[in-house]
Amino acid sequence: MSRRTKVSASVLDCDLADLARETLRAVKGGADRVHLDVMDGHFVPNITFGPTVIKALRPTTKRLFDAHLMISEPGRYLDQFIGAGCDSITFHVEVEEPIEPTLLKIRKAGRLAGLAIKPATPLSALAPYADLLDIVMVMTVEPGFGGQKFMLDAATKIGPAHDVFHDRDGERPSAREVHVDGGVSRSSAAVCGTGGAEVLVVGSVLWKKGNDIERVIKEIKSLADQARKTSAQAAVTAR
Ligand code: DX5
Ligand code: ZN
Repeated sequence: MSRRTKVSASVLDCDLADLARETLRAVKGGADRVHLDVMDGHFVPNITFGPTVIKALRPTTKRLFDAHLMISEPGRYLDQFIGAGCDSITFHVEVEEPIEPTLLKIRKAGRLAGLAIKPATPLSALAPYADLLDIVMVMTVEPGFGGQKFMLDAATKIGPAHDVFHDRDGERPSAREVHVDGGVSRSSAAVCGTGGAEVLVVGSVLWKKGNDIERVIKEIKSLADQARKTSAQAAVTAR
C-alpha cells in the first residue's frame, strides 16, 4: 500500500471540439492517465466516441490510455481498441456475451484487462474471472453520464474489490488495480482512499468553468492519500 493514488482524467465532459488540447491540459495538470468513456447508446442510454477518435488522440501524450467500454458487444470491437493504442481495456461484467475470451485476448495483446461493475452488481459476479483481471472498476454512479452524485453505497465495494484478484499459474501477475469511477471529487476522495483505491477517475470537476485543474487533481490526490494512509495504519493496529 505504498503507492500514491493515481488520477485518470475522464475527457467525457471536456470541450470535445478541442479534445487533444483538453487532454494535454489534464496531463499538465497532474493527471497520470487518460480515461476514455466509450458508449454505444445500447448498453447505456448515451453515445460518445469510438476507437477512431482514440487512435487520433493517441499521439497527444505518452500517458496511459484507459478505455472504459460501456458497450454491449466488447468482443466484436476489441481489435479496434487494441489497434487504437489503449493500454488498458475495461468492459462491463453485465454484458450478455462470453467474457473470458475477451479478457484473454486483452491480456494476450499485452494490455491490462479490466471488468467494471455497476452500483447494484455484487463483487461476486467477478469471481469467475478472478485470475484474468488486472483492473476492477467500481462504478459509483450509474454508467452513462458524467456529473452525477457519488453513490456511497456502491463505494463500500472499493476495499473488498482488492480481494477479487487471483494470479494464474505461469502467467504474468495481475496489476491488481481498483479504479473508482463516477462522482469523484474533493468530497468523495477520502472515501475512495479509505477503500485503498489505486486509481480515481475524475471527470466533470476538472472541466467545470472556473476550476483550476492542477489544484483539483492535487487536492483529490492528497485527500485520498491521507485517508489511505490512515486506514492502512488502522488495519495494522487492529492486527
Ligand atoms: C460515467 C463515466 C465516467 C464519467 C465520470 O458513465 O464512466 O467515467 O466520465 O465523470 P464524473 O467524474 O463527472 O462522474
Ligand atoms: Zn468511465
